[in-house]
Amino acid sequence: MEAIILAGGFGTRLRPLTYTRAKTLLPILNKPMISYLMEMLPNEVRKVVLAVNYRRDQIEEYFETNDFGREVVVNDEPMPLGTGGAVKFAEQHITGTFLVLNGDIICSLDLKKMIEFHRKKKAVSTISLWPVENVSEYGVADIRKNGNIIEFIEKPRPEKAPSNLINAGAYCLEPEVLDYIEKGRLVSMEQEIFPKIIEDTGRFYGYKFDGYWIDVGRISSYIDVHRLLMKNKKIKKIEGNNCEVHGMLKNYSCIGENVYIGYNTLLDSTIVFNNTHIDNNVVLKNCVVGENCVLGRDSDLRNTVIGDDETIMEKTVLDNKIVWDKPIPVGYPDRQIGNVIEK
Ligand code: GTP
Repeated sequence: MEAIILAGGFGTRLRPLTYTRAKTLLPILNKPMISYLMEMLPNEVRKVVLAVNYRRDQIEEYFETNDFGREVVVNDEPMPLGTGGAVKFAEQHITGTFLVLNGDIICSLDLKKMIEFHRKKKAVSTISLWPVENVSEYGVADIRKNGNIIEFIEKPRPEKAPSNLINAGAYCLEPEVLDYIEKGRLVSMEQEIFPKIIEDTGRFYGYKFDGYWIDVGRISSYIDVHRLLMKNKKIKKIEGNNCEVHGMLKNYSCIGENVYIGYNTLLDSTIVFNNTHIDNNVVLKNCVVGENCVLGRDSDLRNTVIGDDETIMEKTVLDNKIVWDKPIPVGYPDRQIGNVIEK
């Protein structure tokens, strides 16, 4: 069986961290996000197709130096083709029932069980489903008791919602799904292809699961996923190798390798990447700090994201800011595209 991992998005909501790296290589507990997806694949998956575009060189390099015991193909799109277009572009690698995983979902889904469910139902498409409280922000599944999905209702008012179940970003698909996707253009799987499959085949199923699920699409969920995974491991902080820590790390903070934390400095729910130096008497709360940064003493930063290679002067106070003082990479969109079709 093959699995396609969608890893070609720009990750605009995670800027400026994604100005310099592929979103799926962002560290989570000091391990690249994509390694979690590789580790959740069942044994049956022998070939992984990485659907890439933006920063493909970094992804390629990562897989050249890290072996996951499976064949890995880096499938580079000539331009971003969207979640559906990327699947179509991987068509030549598909030999039968296959998986598609959004590269930015961290969850406890048991893919083996989902595949079994898919086969039992003789489904054309099975998608993972996750319950949410705030239905009005999502496409919600209208689902029958036997798991058959008959429609998705976009952003319903809570009282009008047919369920509280949303698309959790992992699919088990039959090859005939590929016939629904037009070649060579930007296509959204969720908005264009799934509704057609529901209408044409009626064999579109939803698979609910328990445990945890986080869409690591925004800075707040990037911090949340650290909290969640550390709670699961029953640890409250993480320090990478070769760190020098004089201050304090609390509330599920995580620092990478070669990080210096000065005296009387406090990290609270904060993630710091490799080779960053944070001077004395600094407070960082709900922040993410990129690689090779220098943060001056007596600063107070909250809800702030600092891109790679930035310097923050001493006595800086910031709240709810994005710090990036270099040119934006050529070709990086100035607004979110992702699943949204550019007009
Ligand atoms: P935002 O710009 O913040 O919305 O992030 P994104 O570009 O990653 O988009 P989104 O979160 O909607 O994408 C969901 C998953 O699909 C992610 O794993 C993306 O890497 C992937 N993805 C989105 N668009 C494309 C694309 O055009 N090509 C490929 N190969 N993957 C994509």
